[in-house]
Amino acid sequence: MQKKKASAYTDIRIDISRAKSTVVGPEHGVTPGDLREIEPEVLKAHKVLSAERRQKKYGFYDLYKDKATLKQVKDAAAHFSEMEYKNLVVLGIGGSALGITALHTALGDPYRNLSGRKARKGRPRLFVMDNIDPVTFKAMMRLCKPEKTLYNVISKSGGTAETISQLMIIVDMLEKQLGADAIKDHLVVTTSPRGENAPKSLLHPVADAYDLVSFDIPLNVGGRFSVFSPVGMFPAALLGMDVDAMAAGCAAMDKQCSRSSLLENPAYLRAAVQYLMDTRKGKVMSVMMPYADGLRDVADWYRQLWAESLGKRYDLDKNEVYAGQTPIKALGATDQHSQVQLYREGPNNKIFNILEVKRFASTLRIPDVLPQIKGLDYLRNATMNKLMAAELQGTLDALKVSRRPAMRIILPAVNAYTVAQVLYLLEVETAMAGRLYHVNTFDQPGVEEGKIIARRLMGGDR
Ligand code: PA5
Repeated sequence: MQKKKASAYTDIRIDISRAKSTVVGPEHGVTPGDLREIEPEVLKAHKVLSAERRQKKYGFYDLYKDKATLKQVKDAAAHFSEMEYKNLVVLGIGGSALGITALHTALGDPYRNLSGRKARKGRPRLFVMDNIDPVTFKAMMRLCKPEKTLYNVISKSGGTAETISQLMIIVDMLEKQLGADAIKDHLVVTTSPRGENAPKSLLHPVADAYDLVSFDIPLNVGGRFSVFSPVGMFPAALLGMDVDAMAAGCAAMDKQCSRSSLLENPAYLRAAVQYLMDTRKGKVMSVMMPYADGLRDVADWYRQLWAESLGKRYDLDKNEVYAGQTPIKALGATDQHSQVQLYREGPNNKIFNILEVKRFASTLRIPDVLPQIKGLDYLRNATMNKLMAAELQGTLDALKVSRRPAMRIILPAVNAYTVAQVLYLLEVETAMAGRLYHVNTFDQPGVEEGKIIARRLMGGDR
């Protein structure tokens, strides 16, 4: 009988058991008492977050429900697909870049950009330009011929110097090489909406000047929470990702993450454990370690989300608190040979978040070769999949022996539905953690100040 395949719509799960005192001891693990004490705080925070969600203070929760925007994104992707571009170049930084990068790495073929058009099913390659290194940018310009390229400039504020400088270079090149009239076929804008009460984006006059297709980033959605807005969804749709499956993943996760009960809400439970780890167990760092190459950029995306949202000098009552855990990205099994020595024997100041994949898209058998070497029997006829699972289990068990707390997020498989669930889970977790720390999760004053200083150094006004 054929083994029944798990549906692509099977939910992710979390497991916090290895962060408990029964496993790593009360000094390093959460005790039943810790959880009992935090429960009323979580309930209080849930009430505030739910009320603020209803008041539409934060839009990220409900982006997946916005069918009109999803349709707009899909229609535009269909329109631009007809032009058969070879390249999609995203110009953006921080929250405007990390979401689509995470999706592309997770859902695309590992060497997608190096493979031919047919293997990419006629979809473009993706280049995310999230820096202003002239060497990289020039190399991208040499590689991506403008007539074969669609550029998507993404900036909520529309004033980020890194992104705007990239845009100026691209507009100049397009004007010179293709002519101003052709720009509308090669440039798409994603920025804040227009409106009397909306801040002015420098990208609005650009869109007007060249009659560009443009997408709105809702005002109540911050950059690092914007992956399910057109910021992530337009490039995702153009690259052929299943944006409907992502919306379904968000919807299913929203259902779980709307529960008020600490023990029944995976996002709240993880937030509570991470918060307790930091504030009571000295775990000032939070390591995100996927055991799958495809999820490595999910760790990068999480790093920004956790750092920028929780790393705050002042709390909501203006007390100086210097809050926040330092997020670290790692990759299993690779970083077992780089970081795990420190993780096991260095300071016990980290909580580990392992992203585990139950079923990889491929199976690779290790062949029955090199019979003269007896020590290889354990590998012969095994699979890389089994070895990866053993490495993960080995690390988890070794961490346990060293009394290092760990949590797992388990994906039945890596697909649009499950990856969206992971991202949605971590967004709600961050929102809850921010309430527990009593900080403003959704601002980033520390980033803004650097932007102002850099602008001044360039001779710009304030
Ligand atoms: O999460 C955030 O708000 C930031 O990381 C922004 O995404 C980043 O600074 C880029 O800003 P903008 O989209 O306005 O160009």
